Amino acid sequence: MRQTYKFVTADEAAAYINNGDMVGFSGFTPAGSPKAVPTALAKRAEALHAEGKEFKIGMYTGASTGDSLDGALARANAILFRTPYQSNKDLRSALNCNDAHYFDMHLSTLPQELRYGFMPKPKFAVLEVCDFNADGELVLTTAVGISPTVANLADYIILEWNHKHPKELRGFHDIYEPQDPPYRKEIPLYKPSDRIGSPVIKVDPKKILCVVETELPDEVGGFTPVDEVTAKIGANVALFLANELKAGRIPKEFLPIQSGVGNIANAVLGSLGANPDIPPFEMYTEVIQDAVIDLMYDGNVKFASGCSLTVSNAVLEKMYSNLDFFRDKLVLRPQEISNNPELVRRMGLITINTALEADIFGNVNSTHVLGQKMMNGIGGSGDFTRNAYISIFTTPSTAKGGKISSIVPMVSHLDHSEHSVKVIITEHGIADLRGKSPIQRANEIIENCVAPEYQEVLRDYLKTSGKCHTNQNLSAAFAMHNQFKNTGSMEGINWEDYK
Ligand code: COA
Repeated sequence: MRQTYKFVTADEAAAYINNGDMVGFSGFTPAGSPKAVPTALAKRAEALHAEGKEFKIGMYTGASTGDSLDGALARANAILFRTPYQSNKDLRSALNCNDAHYFDMHLSTLPQELRYGFMPKPKFAVLEVCDFNADGELVLTTAVGISPTVANLADYIILEWNHKHPKELRGFHDIYEPQDPPYRKEIPLYKPSDRIGSPVIKVDPKKILCVVETELPDEVGGFTPVDEVTAKIGANVALFLANELKAGRIPKEFLPIQSGVGNIANAVLGSLGANPDIPPFEMYTEVIQDAVIDLMYDGNVKFASGCSLTVSNAVLEKMYSNLDFFRDKLVLRPQEISNNPELVRRMGLITINTALEADIFGNVNSTHVLGQKMMNGIGGSGDFTRNAYISIFTTPSTAKGGKISSIVPMVSHLDHSEHSVKVIITEHGIADLRGKSPIQRANEIIENCVAPEYQEVLRDYLKTSGKCHTNQNLSAAFAMHNQFKNTGSMEGINWEDYK
């Protein structure tokens, strides 16, 4: 039945895509991202550039992707614009010198903004699948991302049929797209394990332009091992939540956890599982990382709803050898649903995300280094934080071997404001910002979270502003950043120069 479709090589598929085309890709993180067609597209771009011809495409993805997508296309200088999130070092270099235009978006909003027509419609959808049929039913692999929306909007669909993933993944996805205003209704999901959609994406089979067969593994990187700092941050998060439970501020049944991306998030989850005072819990999150799977085997995570299964290949292979164990414990959803603010607020999620820097008043920067260089993007952290039951941000108190204090007078870029950030946790302790004024928050953060070598300088900063509601001093607010730029360290500030 699949013979009704045209089977081609990756190079032949890439030849359909032309300069200036808008392309939507499946996947979310390297999980489920196409690999063969993007690599061929990069080759095509390089060949055309060598002939002096232009070739750049507009790219919509779920989130970050693998190196054979973002990395290859960035190195080939083939990206016109890119949204909504990335974490590839070559793409990061390209967008930080404007070789590729990048706009950073809340991940839950991209599908609806594409439907609303706020951005050009994708002409092509390139989707990785583990199975499909002549009726146009597509079974995705390890992620959902924006696939349902771009499959619907695109004129043409190119399938990467990846034999690394078993067709028994059918049933792990819950595909649901809300209607657009003024017809949108409540999304009928009340707990992480509810299913509200279909196990497949259904498209008009006539839109399927071609199929490329592959057997390429997901390009998920490993995590750095838990070290003393990340272990302490994790233990502090667990301690905070255990105390909230004891105090009755978290119901005894506990609440679903959302946990962010990266090394710190992975370490924090491990600590939650290890703390005997935290009962087994459910997750309603974006990215399901290695630590979640370990916690499932141990019985500490009862159910995980996510947008992607971003696990290392060793963990994925072990899962595939006993897929039935996970059938009633795991569901993958479109990012519009996994990160949906309505659902975050309804289910009362405890959200745990990572800050690059925070300020003493509780504002958080998750994206920009020294206000200028994009690291990755806001991802889903805003979708979750703003609507959380309790929003927590974790960060090591210092970066770059202590030369940078992660806590500064004023963040150099704002992603999450003091109105949304409820708790900040470092390896030194916990700052509970709930119900506190700016000066009370500043004292709480300085005394509990700041590295000892930066406490005095931040206490003294507060004295430079005189009496006011928020003790900022506009001529000194970025002095620590400037000190780092000028001397290579934030230490050694003399506030006398700023009074
Ligand atoms: N100034 C400059 N650089 C800093 C810094 C600061 N204040 N704080 C950290 N860094 C650097 C680190 O030194 C490290 O650099 P390196 O790779 O050259 O060593 C890098 O930033 C990443 O830090 P790391 O400690 O390894 O953190 P991580 O892997 O846990 O990632 C974020 C942290 C913030 C980058 C990551 O969580 C992120 O992109 N968050 C935004 C999106 C998000 O929250 N998504 C989840 C929603 S579900």
